[in-house]
Amino acid sequence: MSLQEKKEWLKLKEYSKTMKSTHLKDLFSEDEDRFKKFSFRKDDFFLDFSKNLIDTEILNELINLAKSCSLNNAITDMFEGKKINHTEDRAVLHTALRHPKSGKLMFEGENVYDLVHGVLDSMTSFSEQIRNGEQLGFTNKKITDVVNIGIGGSDLGPKMVYEGLLHYLDGPKVHFVSNVDGTHITETLKPLNPETTLFLVASKTFTTQETMTNAASAREWLVSSLGEDSVAKHFAAMSTNIEAVTDFGISKDRVFAFWDFVGGRYSLWSAIGLPLMIAFGADKFNEFLSGAHDMDNHFKNTDFDKNLPVIMALIGIWNNNFLDADSHVLLPYDQYLHRFAAHFQQVDMESSGKTVDNNGDFIDYQTGPIIWGEPGTNGQHAFYQLIHQGSKLIPSDFIGFKTSLNQISDHHPKLMANFFAQTEALAFGLSTDKVVEDLKSQNMDDKKIEKLKNHKTFKGNKVSNTLLIDKLTPKSLGALIALYEHKVYVQGVIWNINPFDQWGVELGKKLAKVIFSEMDSLDFSNHDSSTKGLLNEFMNNSN
Ligand code: F6P
Repeated sequence: MSLQEKKEWLKLKEYSKTMKSTHLKDLFSEDEDRFKKFSFRKDDFFLDFSKNLIDTEILNELINLAKSCSLNNAITDMFEGKKINHTEDRAVLHTALRHPKSGKLMFEGENVYDLVHGVLDSMTSFSEQIRNGEQLGFTNKKITDVVNIGIGGSDLGPKMVYEGLLHYLDGPKVHFVSNVDGTHITETLKPLNPETTLFLVASKTFTTQETMTNAASAREWLVSSLGEDSVAKHFAAMSTNIEAVTDFGISKDRVFAFWDFVGGRYSLWSAIGLPLMIAFGADKFNEFLSGAHDMDNHFKNTDFDKNLPVIMALIGIWNNNFLDADSHVLLPYDQYLHRFAAHFQQVDMESSGKTVDNNGDFIDYQTGPIIWGEPGTNGQHAFYQLIHQGSKLIPSDFIGFKTSLNQISDHHPKLMANFFAQTEALAFGLSTDKVVEDLKSQNMDDKKIEKLKNHKTFKGNKVSNTLLIDKLTPKSLGALIALYEHKVYVQGVIWNINPFDQWGVELGKKLAKVIFSEMDSLDFSNHDSSTKGLLNEFMNNSN
């Protein structure tokens, strides 16, 4: 039965008709217990989802919908290593990467936890040796800077977490190069000293054009100053393609492996996290993993009505498929999380940007929303205008921390006052009557008031979730990331799509290869007139 024919879906469609003409103001005034009903705590995480256009019936029906899509089985299948990424014939086991050593998870004849911890152990000893100076550069100098060369999942996750945990930095600095635009590597390398720089080439496939190009340029930069023999001491790699890494000239003992069952955008828990271990130390990295593992257990073992990823996913489905929101904004009120939205753009949009279901049929309902966002107060002075008064419904996640890592003067209470004020303003707005009253009290003349009153009115009814976390630590950040990963999975299960493949990125890559080779022959005759015209324009004027 197709998703839209399910009785739960049809019921929700009916409910949405009423909810589309209901105001959050009324939902709150009708029910004193609303906050209590639609909020809960899980350890140091507190979720308030009461500022959404839902009621108990809707929430129950969303949960029924999840059950009717066999969500429980789908969760078990993922954790047990079933090949749920069926279009690539792969298991999806990023949760095994953060599992403690104890226990057994057999996959293709091997205990995955042994494999994972084997690599974690080599990462630990390598990172400790770099941190304590046992492994030096070619000229016997201590490594002070690490350059991670990777793109997509081999860049966004580690970079986000590096920035997210900067407060805890006690090892070498990490720089990230991803873009094939030569500017990125040039500007990154400018202040660095080859004698004290370690390059980590991060690529699951070790074939990605951007990464291979940047790695070759990094190699040239190093060799031009320290000679060919220095490569061994200044390069390491993280990849599933050990052969390609050794072909590049990196010795086997400096290759940190991961496996096919780790998707690129879920790989930061694997060897791809090596730059984080070097920067923060193995203990902090393990805390990060343990936070994610806690969230995994919560996701696996908690009833849906108190399950953070499930509830956030269901609210997302409600806003997306029943209230017609087409984007979702992530608003961390913490400067350390300034790359949070960038990472989840990949995790969410690469996972849920699909229009073919698990049966291989084109689907006619909405799937993944557009994900975007910035740290909160910066956003307030940029795009919040549109969220407050624009014509679109933009559901938001406000993510804040009770304790600041930088307690200076009254910054944190001010930041958090903004945090709470925004969700209140979004939900409840400001009525025209109140606007008129305020303007009258300022002695504004009636004509001017008439002209201004609508402009100053906030209709409100803009929905949001608030996630209030005790403190930004390696552990809580691990849990937060795992929460959003699982949210994406739940939505994929309900939409009946495969959230673990990414065929949509292939065509452009392929065409770029063709065009790159045609730049030599200058024969663009196989293209449409626009592409041909642009290429001719580029070739005539570039040098
Ligand atoms: O182009 C998309 C993608 O395949 C991502 O899924 C992946 O994270 C990224 O490219 C990088 O791939 P790799 O780690 O193999 O270089």
